Amino acid sequence: MISKQSKRNDAHEEPRLPGSPDWLPSQRRADKTKVRACSLPVVQELGHNFRGGLCMSTWVEGTVVNLRQWTDELYSIQVTADIAPFTAGQFTRVALEIDGEMVARPYSFVNAPDNPVHEFYFVLVKNGPLTHAMRDLKRGDTLFLAPRGAGFFILSEIPEADNLWMLATGTALGPFLSILSTAEAWQRHRNIVLVHAVRTAEELTYGDEIRALLEQHPGELQFIPFVSREDTGFAIRSRVPAALEDGRLEQTAGISITASDSQVMICGNPAMVRDTMAVLEARGLKKNRRREPGQITTEQYWKA
Ligand SMILES: Cc1cc2nc3c(=O)[nH]c(=O)nc-3n(C[C@H](O)[C@H](O)[C@H](O)COP(=O)(O)OP(=O)(O)OC[C@H]3O[C@@H](n4cnc5c(N)ncnc54)[C@H](O)[C@@H]3O)c2cc1C
Ligand SMILES: NC(=O)c1ccc[n+]([C@@H]2O[C@H](COP(=O)([O-])OP(=O)(O)OC[C@H]3O[C@@H](n4cnc5c(N)ncnc54)[C@H](OP(=O)(O)O)[C@@H]3O)[C@@H](O)[C@H]2O)c1
Repeated sequence: MISKQSKRNDAHEEPRLPGSPDWLPSQRRADKTKVRACSLPVVQELGHNFRGGLCMSTWVEGTVVNLRQWTDELYSIQVTADIAPFTAGQFTRVALEIDGEMVARPYSFVNAPDNPVHEFYFVLVKNGPLTHAMRDLKRGDTLFLAPRGAGFFILSEIPEADNLWMLATGTALGPFLSILSTAEAWQRHRNIVLVHAVRTAEELTYGDEIRALLEQHPGELQFIPFVSREDTGFAIRSRVPAALEDGRLEQTAGISITASDSQVMICGNPAMVRDTMAVLEARGLKKNRRREPGQITTEQYWKA
């Protein structure tokens, strides 16, 4: 476990994070992307009710500059594309032409907003058309992106609070890495706790990036991994709602979640989002709404 506590307490094992990503050196080359009006209908648009009137038929043609395989099922893809600036925590639609149709899905940006190489972290979904097609892309191939980012899972939607909790399952780590790369996160919050909940230890990805953030923000950032299906000696072997109920999460962090000084962002598996919200609501925290600010802000990656 990587936390202020683990650094102080010799009883804990040395933090263990996955090794360096084997990306090629960052390729910030001149962008050859262009906007393309697509004649194909977007016939598959699952998972999200898009607001903001994005034009469904206009795509920016991006170029794949790297694809990293973390495990048999987990991948990250890097793309250059001339899209509008986005806000950390937002997603965009990613599309490919598959069997004569444009298949589009939302993906959160992993990269910092000022990094021109856009990065998406995805899990191969069984029989999922887009994830299988993305997995097969090679450097130099085309990947279409929507012209601009969207979504409200962003810091400006979160009320001020000393403590910001970021709870992610699986690939939902991505938007938190983007948010943590911004100066705003550290200006707005005194303590940030990043929780990454996965099934097996090999799914604890982005170790180098998390280690760098911990080094940049000593005493401000804690990283608490959860691995639910195997013993690791360093991660909490549980689910997030259970560890909230039995107190293990807050004990590990050394701070409590209270309505008066905490904000909680939850992202990923819809069942985890639902169950975690239920535990927090039972403790007096409320969903954060623009008209009625609360403490819980969520984003679900698919429908339960
Ligand atoms: C706002 C938002 C942001 C998202 N960001 C990401 C991201 O950064 N990384 C990422 O991997 N996914 C993300 N997703 C999910 C993503 O949009 C796709 O649904 C997913 O990658 C599967 O696409 P597919 O075409 O392969 O399969 P689909 O045909 O879309 O999925 C088949 C079925 O699998 C289920 N499913 C969909 N997504 C998942 C999933 N991630 N895990 C398990 N079951 C799923 C659904 O029940 C769906 O009906 C996000 C979704 C939303 C709404
Ligand atoms: N990760 C992979 O390599 C992989 C491989 C094949 C297919 N997939 C598919 O991709 C999807 C997403 O995968 P994922 O890796 O993000 O896994 P996931 O199923 O979302 O699990 C990630 C973590 O969330 C936990 N979780 C599940 N339901 C929960 C709940 N109700 N409350 C709290 N925590 C909960 C899991 O615990 P438990 O372990 O206790 O469930 C696990 O620790 C899954 O539907 C899966 O079928 C993933």
